[in-house]
Amino acid sequence: MFSFKDVYHNNVHLVFDETFFSKQPGHVWVVCRYRSQWLLTDHARRGHEFPGGKIEVGESPVDAAVREVWEETGGIVEKIQFVGQYKVEGKTEVVIKNIYYANVEKLVEKDNYMETNGPILYDELPRKIEAVPEFSFIMKDEVLTHTIRYLQEQQIIV
Ligand code: GTP
Repeated sequence: MFSFKDVYHNNVHLVFDETFFSKQPGHVWVVCRYRSQWLLTDHARRGHEFPGGKIEVGESPVDAAVREVWEETGGIVEKIQFVGQYKVEGKTEVVIKNIYYANVEKLVEKDNYMETNGPILYDELPRKIEAVPEFSFIMKDEVLTHTIRYLQEQQIIV
């Protein structure tokens, strides 16, 4: 297990193991590729981040992941796989999030991207992402770095 603090000094615990913290996580986060690029969304409040959000009542985590990619980017998921789970010990609540890796086959232009301004594509993510103001705080802790390293080690990405 990896343990560290996020931008707001909340404790975060991360595992590359399903259902470690909870069989019923409340949130999902989806590391997305579209062709040879990273697919993010421009969240109206937080900035650029991989799509994600809350799981709805009666919805499975993976279905929530596919739905969030569609709602926030217009991306149609071709393949999706579970990667890990993390727990954020916030000031008032504990958030447990499943991480997925998805390949998007098609990007559909839409009128509405929910609470975001729609898709943002990057050839590469900045090395010092924590110093780049356009990026969301959820991209600025070790969840991202450990996840990318894990995906490389597992040869899910090159
Ligand atoms: P919305 O309902 O989507 O507006 O979100 P919210 O910010 O009101 O609540 P949410 O349940 O998404 O998150 C509650 C708190 O948990 C946030 O204010 C963050 O402090 C923390 N949090 C949520 N997701 C993450 C994450 O991916 N990483 C980190 N480090 N903290 C998170």
